[in-house]
Amino acid sequence: MTVRGANDVYYDPYDVAINADPYPVFRRLRKEAPLYYNNTHDFYAVSRYDDVERGLVDNEAFISSRGGILELIKADVEIPPGSLIFEDPPIHTIHRRLLSRVFTPKRVAALEPQIRDFCARSLDGLVGGGGFDFVADLGAQMPMRVISMLLGIPEPDQEAVRDRVDANLRTAPGEPMQVSADFAKGEMFGEYVDWRAEHPSDDLMTELLNAEFEDETGTTRRLTRDEILTYVFVVAGAGNETTTRLIGWAGKALAEHPDQRRQLAEDPSLIPNAIEDSWSGPPTATTAASPTATGSTSTARWASTSRSVTASTSASAPP
Ligand code: HEM
Repeated sequence: MTVRGANDVYYDPYDVAINADPYPVFRRLRKEAPLYYNNTHDFYAVSRYDDVERGLVDNEAFISSRGGILELIKADVEIPPGSLIFEDPPIHTIHRRLLSRVFTPKRVAALEPQIRDFCARSLDGLVGGGGFDFVADLGAQMPMRVISMLLGIPEPDQEAVRDRVDANLRTAPGEPMQVSADFAKGEMFGEYVDWRAEHPSDDLMTELLNAEFEDETGTTRRLTRDEILTYVFVVAGAGNETTTRLIGWAGKALAEHPDQRRQLAEDPSLIPNAIEDSWSGPPTATTAASPTATGSTSTARWASTSRSVTASTSASAPP
């Protein structure tokens, strides 16, 4: 693989014009500069499927613990334990195992009747109206409600929590996201976690408070308050941001392809595959563990060109 000069093809994750239709640039990157270096923002982008796949699983050469978003990597902030997605083995493995013990398919399945009920109530209320805003009326509501049910955030506070999580990830068009020193620390959930410690319930927060696990030092213990705050923050952010965007994007794509929308309406068994197709690949940026991992002696960074940075823009960003 060779590093091409920036003159041949230019990819800038903050460029509003490129982001409006990034596919021609992505195509050129794959063809002309599979290992692309951006001089202006100092990052590498890998765009060929096989290269991305090889890098994602190579957790020795390409680490996650400096962040998974370009701005976060560059901000060089301390990433708190419990952030999962921004951790490497062995701590990642321990934290991931713990989360999968408490955040189970069974737990989500148990919420299904409530989720269906929420969707039906939201959509039934819109029947007969002249039209509705697919994102505002459903896309931005449903994930927030579901994640809050899961975590145990009381209904009156759910919107405020979503807005604070969103604010943390918001970017202005054409500009990088501003990363604060307490990014991912989750202090906004402090009050709920403290209340739950006194008032256990059947939710994820209670489970996280009570779960015992063996940490990286071999000690069996419960999570600290700070670790729980980070876990809760990560799950709240992971669930709200991603799914809201998925719904918005799926709505746009189906509006542009009414024939396919009709097919889904006629045959709902096609829906799971349609959802798989609506989100295209992971938003990932990892850091090279050593400069030689990307074959360079300068600051070595690795980022896939999927949604590494556009992931932090608006709900209508292309996947
Ligand atoms: C459209 C919806 C979603 C997409 C596209 C998405 C995408 C991703 C991706 C690409 C990763 C990184 C995987 C990696 O580093 O190998 C990830 C990690 C994660 N996601 Fe999601 N996600 C979605 C929804 C959710 C939801 C609803 C939740 C929770 C309620 C969630 C919780 C997590 C967690 C906890 C991790 C960290 C896992 C780990 O590092 O072991 N995600 N997600």
